[in-house]
Amino acid sequence: MVRRHCLPDRSSAERACTANCRPAKQWHDSRSIRGTCSTLKGSPHTAQSPERSERTLGELTDGLPDFVETCGLASPASEFQRYRPHEKPATMWARRLQGLTPMKNNPLPRLDNDPEIRERLLTFCRLKPGDIWNDPEGRHRIGCSDATNSHQMRELVSNESPTLAIHDPPYNLVAFELRSIAEFTDWCRKWIRQTTEVMATDASLYIWLGADQNDGFQPLPDFMVMMRDEPYKARSFITMRNQRGYGTQKNWMAVRQELLYYTRGTPVFNVDAEYTDIPKILRGYYKKVNGKKTENLERSKSENIRAGNVWVDIQQVFYRMDENVSGCYAQKPLKCIERIIAASSDPGDVVIDFFAHSGATLIAAEKLGRRCITTDIDPIYAEICIRRLERYRKSGREGWQNGHPFEVEIPSFSDSSRDTATEGAPALPQKLLF
Ligand SMILES: C[S@@+](CC[C@H](N)C(=O)[O-])C[C@H]1O[C@@H](n2cnc3c(N)ncnc32)[C@H](O)[C@@H]1O
Repeated sequence: MVRRHCLPDRSSAERACTANCRPAKQWHDSRSIRGTCSTLKGSPHTAQSPERSERTLGELTDGLPDFVETCGLASPASEFQRYRPHEKPATMWARRLQGLTPMKNNPLPRLDNDPEIRERLLTFCRLKPGDIWNDPEGRHRIGCSDATNSHQMRELVSNESPTLAIHDPPYNLVAFELRSIAEFTDWCRKWIRQTTEVMATDASLYIWLGADQNDGFQPLPDFMVMMRDEPYKARSFITMRNQRGYGTQKNWMAVRQELLYYTRGTPVFNVDAEYTDIPKILRGYYKKVNGKKTENLERSKSENIRAGNVWVDIQQVFYRMDENVSGCYAQKPLKCIERIIAASSDPGDVVIDFFAHSGATLIAAEKLGRRCITTDIDPIYAEICIRRLERYRKSGREGWQNGHPFEVEIPSFSDSSRDTATEGAPALPQKLLF
């Protein structure tokens, strides 16, 4: 049984979307669209017989790519044509509706700890350790290098004078590689010093770091203490709230991500960037202005609240979001990086990020007209950054949602081509990271 109302026209799609019907799950989980929408139950178009005519399928598929785009459910038709280039998009959608073609939900597994997948992917990476990719459009630079290596960082940044650094190093967690706190802070000091060496004298520095509540809250406090010896002024300690958390029934759920803000000299701070989309709802704070008692909403510059140093309006990246880059296990949402960039730089400025991973800083910089110099020690993440930028420029897509950055070379990780792609691959370090 097909619920037609979910499909054809943009307005019904938008209605379904805003009404929070949840077709997406079905699109991922099922080969048909059976029972997709509960919101519009009882509408005149609720059901259709399984023996659909070709014309009906045509009608159904008309506008479907739009619908899918609108709801952010899957990649557009052009994406799917890669897999069946001989088919017209409409036919492809029709096949899907008939249940003949499974929905593409093709994530890349976490990359840093799967030697077999790493070995395959390394063959497709343009950069090897020490290499730099220069953007053909002349704006950005992507390296494959070690943030603690002074020679590599100087070469990467070259004659540029970055005014903003946004670093998101691996936290000192068992999930990555747990070192002693002293070792970890020594390692941090090294890349902080590389940063200081290449930055402009008026600059902002943002660092994401965790405090493990299962391990004495390390490494955040140790890092903060270490930073007292470096030439920066501590400016703010921001907490971003995650939607998902971890914990037990006997402790507060851990839902926070910490962001430290430091400055050197007198860098720009564009306060307008701080305003959220959240309307002010509380009145109060009475104060006399020109002899008249006023309350805060009357005095406000904006009807919306400032983000302040507790950010509650950022959606964590998950697989249904356009910006999702599967295989990247620590991807930051573009929205929070865009907020930092908009607040602490001006158009045309150079932003650095020595721990590129999914390229969130790179894409945010591209979107906001800044230039980005970024690097990752792992050639696979460096390649993902290049591909993400190329894809964004070509299609406006911020990530891969249900696909992955290597889907042209490896359409599916469950196929049988595992052995052939690895021939000639560089030797694989078992643990390349951290
Ligand atoms: C937490 S992730 C960064 C996430 C990134 N902000 C994003 O939104 O995608 C840390 C990254 O640092 C990289 N990395 C680890 N050690 C490094 C080093 N010494 N130099 C450069 N990159 C390193 C890892 O390969 C990993 O991709």
